Amino acid sequence: MRLSFLASLILSTALGGLRAAASDRTKMSSSITSTPSISLENLAVRHTGEIIVGFRQWPDPLPNRTKSYIDIHGIVEVAQDQFYVTCGNLSLVTHIDVPGSPSVFHVNMTGFPEHLEVNEVAHFPEARILNGMTLLSEEKGLVYIADSRVGVVNLLNVYTGEFFVAINNSLTNQPPGADEISNCVHGVHVPKSNKYLYFSNFAQGIIARVLIHPDTGLAAGEPEIIKSNLTTVEDFVLDKDLNIFTALFVTNEFVRVDGKTGEVLVLAGNENSTEYKWAASVRFGRLASDKGDLYATINGGFLEPDNVGGALFRIDLGELAVV
Ligand SMILES: *[C@@H]1O[C@H](CO)[C@@H](O)[C@H](O)[C@H]1NC(C)=O
Ligand SMILES: *[C@@H]1O[C@H](CO)[C@@H](O)[C@H](O)[C@H]1NC(C)=O
Ligand SMILES: *[C@@H]1O[C@H](CO)[C@@H](O)[C@H](O)[C@H]1NC(C)=O
Ligand SMILES: *[C@@H]1O[C@H](CO)[C@@H](O)[C@H](O)[C@H]1NC(C)=O
Ligand SMILES: *[C@@H]1O[C@H](CO)[C@@H](O)[C@H](O)[C@H]1NC(C)=O
Ligand SMILES: *[C@@H]1O[C@H](CO)[C@@H](O)[C@H](O)[C@H]1NC(C)=O
Repeated sequence: MRLSFLASLILSTALGGLRAAASDRTKMSSSITSTPSISLENLAVRHTGEIIVGFRQWPDPLPNRTKSYIDIHGIVEVAQDQFYVTCGNLSLVTHIDVPGSPSVFHVNMTGFPEHLEVNEVAHFPEARILNGMTLLSEEKGLVYIADSRVGVVNLLNVYTGEFFVAINNSLTNQPPGADEISNCVHGVHVPKSNKYLYFSNFAQGIIARVLIHPDTGLAAGEPEIIKSNLTTVEDFVLDKDLNIFTALFVTNEFVRVDGKTGEVLVLAGNENSTEYKWAASVRFGRLASDKGDLYATINGGFLEPDNVGGALFRIDLGELAVV
């Protein structure tokens, strides 16, 4: 059971065909939902409007690769069409990870689909689940990467391959009494203003932030909780007004947390929803036609008895997002 970069990129070609369909303003659920053998994870939106999604498929569509991993979690674009992804050997079935398995790869999509370059940037021997990624500096090539099991946020220089633990505090860590398969710090996001690193903590059910030093990426203050009681909060994005759009995994919901009042508005799904089973990740559209829309993935319940299959949705936010 493996997942490859190529496989994840092939998905983007498949989704390319959906761009026309995406012009109607209704919720979009992609054709890949027809195959319940796929689980979707984090996504990124290309400047062309195509969507790149990390996914896992069973059976493996591309056997016998020289280097293989069974999960892809984070994706971040550092410069146009220069994506970086995290891979590792976390089992989506048992949730057991292989300590020291994660690496970050550079995926150059400039020549896509004719040419595609994939190169390893760094191997993380101390890491367990490299998850959400966000850009700190394009010029310096600095990206933050959450480790959801170790409970820290790493800073990686994608141009040199150097990295270190930049953020490590009680709000990124596992909660007291966490079990072996608990996931803590999950999504990460640095708004354009660049002063804070925002992060979600799955087990703690919070979104928090910490002031950062713009040059070193280290914490420059104490972390603070922005919103709590977000059950199994996964990946998230912030709009210009710092409204939060996020996925709540176990409650099968995509929600908006108002940046001023903290009020939670459910955008899609509910605790009993099968349509949105295991809400995973969100990103805003990038085209003039879909800028205020939210693209959202679900895991679907990979290999579980009530699996509905991974799916990608487009949620029309109307005036709810300031992008
Ligand atoms: C992959 O490897 C297996 C076992 O070594 C072999 O049986 C199979 O034919 C190979 N498949 C391809 C597509 O090369
Ligand atoms: C990850 O798992 C695959 C498939 O079992 C294996 O071939 C590969 O060596 C593993 N990689 C690491 C870094 O553990
Ligand atoms: C990306 O690939 C293109 C060819 O498709 C190449 O010209 C370019 O130099 C590559 N960029 C990087 C940053 O590797
Ligand atoms: C994070 O901080 C704790 C407490 O200071 C320390 O014990 C732990 O080793 C640190 N973790 C990493 C990965 O640096
Ligand atoms: C937490 O959220 C649940 C369900 O979303 C709600 O029923 C409960 O009242 C909330 N608790 C607090 C302390 O806000
Ligand atoms: C989900 O199902 C439970 C048990 O049937 C029920 O109590 C609850 O009200 C349902 N929630 C929603 C949002 O429909």
